[in-house]
Amino acid sequence: MRLSLRFVLPLLVVLALLASAAMPLVDRLTFRWFVKDLDLRASLIANSVAERVAPLAAAGDRVGLRAFFSGLTQDERLYAVGVCSAERARPEGTTPMPTTIRCGDLDAYLEPAGQVVEDAHGPLLVSARRLAFGADTSHALVIVQDLSFAARRSEETKRYLFYFFVGLGIVVSVITVVVAQLSWRGWVHGIRALMRGEGLLRPSTRSSGSELQPIADDLRTLIRDLEAEHQQRDDERLAWSPQTLREILDRELRGAEVIVVSNREPFIHVRERDGIVIQRPASGLVTAMEPIMRACSGTWIAHGSGSADREVVDKWDRVAAPVEEPGYQLRRVWLTKEEEEGYYYGFANEGLWPLCHIAHVRPTFRTADWERYEQANRKFANAVVEEARTSDPIVLVQDYHLALAPRMIRERLPDATIITFWHIPWPNPEAFAICPQREQLLDGLLGSSILGFHTQFHVNNFVDTVDRQLEARVDRETFGVSYRGQRTLVKRYPISVAWPLDAGDEALPAAAARAAVRARLNLPADQAIGVGVDRLDYTKGLEERFRAVERLFEQEPEWIGRFTFVQIAAPTRGQIEQYQSYAERVHALVGRINSRFANRRAPAIVLLAQHHDAHEVVEYYRAADLCFVSSLHDGMNLVAKEFVAARDDDAGVLILSQFTGAARELPEALVVNPYDSDQCAAALDVALTMPLRQQRARMRLMRGLLREFNVYRWAGRMLLDAAVVRRRARFIDRRPAAAKHTRASDSAVASAAHHSAFGALL
Ligand code: F6P
Repeated sequence: MRLSLRFVLPLLVVLALLASAAMPLVDRLTFRWFVKDLDLRASLIANSVAERVAPLAAAGDRVGLRAFFSGLTQDERLYAVGVCSAERARPEGTTPMPTTIRCGDLDAYLEPAGQVVEDAHGPLLVSARRLAFGADTSHALVIVQDLSFAARRSEETKRYLFYFFVGLGIVVSVITVVVAQLSWRGWVHGIRALMRGEGLLRPSTRSSGSELQPIADDLRTLIRDLEAEHQQRDDERLAWSPQTLREILDRELRGAEVIVVSNREPFIHVRERDGIVIQRPASGLVTAMEPIMRACSGTWIAHGSGSADREVVDKWDRVAAPVEEPGYQLRRVWLTKEEEEGYYYGFANEGLWPLCHIAHVRPTFRTADWERYEQANRKFANAVVEEARTSDPIVLVQDYHLALAPRMIRERLPDATIITFWHIPWPNPEAFAICPQREQLLDGLLGSSILGFHTQFHVNNFVDTVDRQLEARVDRETFGVSYRGQRTLVKRYPISVAWPLDAGDEALPAAAARAAVRARLNLPADQAIGVGVDRLDYTKGLEERFRAVERLFEQEPEWIGRFTFVQIAAPTRGQIEQYQSYAERVHALVGRINSRFANRRAPAIVLLAQHHDAHEVVEYYRAADLCFVSSLHDGMNLVAKEFVAARDDDAGVLILSQFTGAARELPEALVVNPYDSDQCAAALDVALTMPLRQQRARMRLMRGLLREFNVYRWAGRMLLDAAVVRRRARFIDRRPAAAKHTRASDSAVASAAHHSAFGALL
């Protein structure tokens, strides 16, 4: 308070001095303005009465003058009026006429300003103006005006001025006190420092140079980095591109090494009659990861499953990819026939795949398959260790084939940042409990630094499963799981497609694609076309889709022969009995529907059960009036997003199953329940008759979303989170030995860092 007084007192003194100087000045000024105004008024009065008064004055008509003047002085400010002549000592006019006014002083009363005289009544202004009557100018009109109102106004002005200065003094004093308090106590600085995370850690002068100094420095750097990261996320929110990813790698991850590991490889070399051809597998994982690897370079480790794969690799089993314009390297892992059967066909696709999808196919778990699964995971993990050039690479583990790999990699490369992405749904805890090896699978996955799913629903299912199955600490605020002394961040990263689509330029534009596809399939030029693009998998709801087409023809027969549904069905997992019987059922259903609605003009359904290259698929998307995705259960479904990304003409309608992750992001699609064939048939009819304007409105909204939420954002957000996790890990490792060994400081610092880091990752 004493400090505040030091500021306030001089201020008040200065204000008081200013006020005392200002008040007489203002008083004088306002009085002078009034005198001037009244003198001017005297001129006006004289001008208006001169004609009447001059003859009366010249004739010496006192009675006439008095009578005329008494009419004038009805005005309350006009105190007296009279006439002076050379012979008179005092003016002849109204009474009372102040005695102080003498005709001998006439010169003082004449223009320009009159004279102020004091009377018992108060201050008066005496003004005089010459009267002319012919050549006679010996008379003058004397006008006396009351000035007491000016004195009253002046008093009022002084009062207001006084209040003004008092108010000013109070306001300025309050501001001064507040500012002085804040500055003196360092609150402004303190609050800012606190926001930077420094407030609690600012070392006192006594402890500077102590052991805690490096910790404080590191934590400050960490928090600054987090701020920079948030800023950067915001800045780049609308423009995620390969360049953004490269910048994140350079700036945020200091050029860290990137290794991707997945079962499926991005390119398969296949021996055909004319030589070796390259195929890009029908896989959402490949669709998403390939553009990322092109942007980030690095190494992609995958199972070499192509018939000519071994022929093209070097002695380290590597091949440059993509072949046309190498940007990264593909390292192939070889599996024995038994391994492939037990690990891929068996445990992964007969066990985990039906376990995680609600498609009414029972999972099968065999101990022998599990052993092969472990063995194969070990092979992939070993390949990661072999390929790693540094001790702390960023390893991106992909999908349910490699659930054990994160732990295996962690054991060999403890400093690696392992980001695992689960591309399929995660079931609820009851369903997952069916799996005999559930604990080992969870243990394997929790070797990851970050574990990603497409939707929050699957994140929640996973966290609930861990809570139910393991002795782990689950933090539901930050979605972190602490297990075996390590923490895994479990988070939602909705996958997407590249924007613009890589194959978009290679494919024909919409109009040409329409013509080309209709010609290729022998369809009339005006034929309406629906398209589906899937692996021939029971989760994709192909039977439900075709039944909906059948129902459309039943309900709206005018479409028979005018609408054809074209289904691209890539062969998949053909060794599994469930897939074989599914393929048979699908073929039989198509045959039955086609014969039921046989039409010379065009077939009801065209089933293209073979591999198609990416640019061919884009052509079908562009040629179609609608795309129908009827998955019974799907983590995301990138076909839906690819269709939207391919439609650069803004036309076409997407019919989308409500059981896909994509349905949460694309509400402008016609969202349907694939089990409800009547609803799906109605959606087909709505799509086929939808006016172009409405198609465009919906399509533009969906394209706007995908432009922003593209695959670079998907990967970028994981990499940014990885950067934070790495900084946090570095910070904890670099703690001075004493701090590491002091329990209290250890947990305090770790928890501070942990909360900052994980809080920022939410
Ligand atoms: O959808 C799950 C998934 O593994 C994807 O990651 C991949 O796109 C697709 O299945 C392909 O499966 P596969 O590799 O068995 O051909």
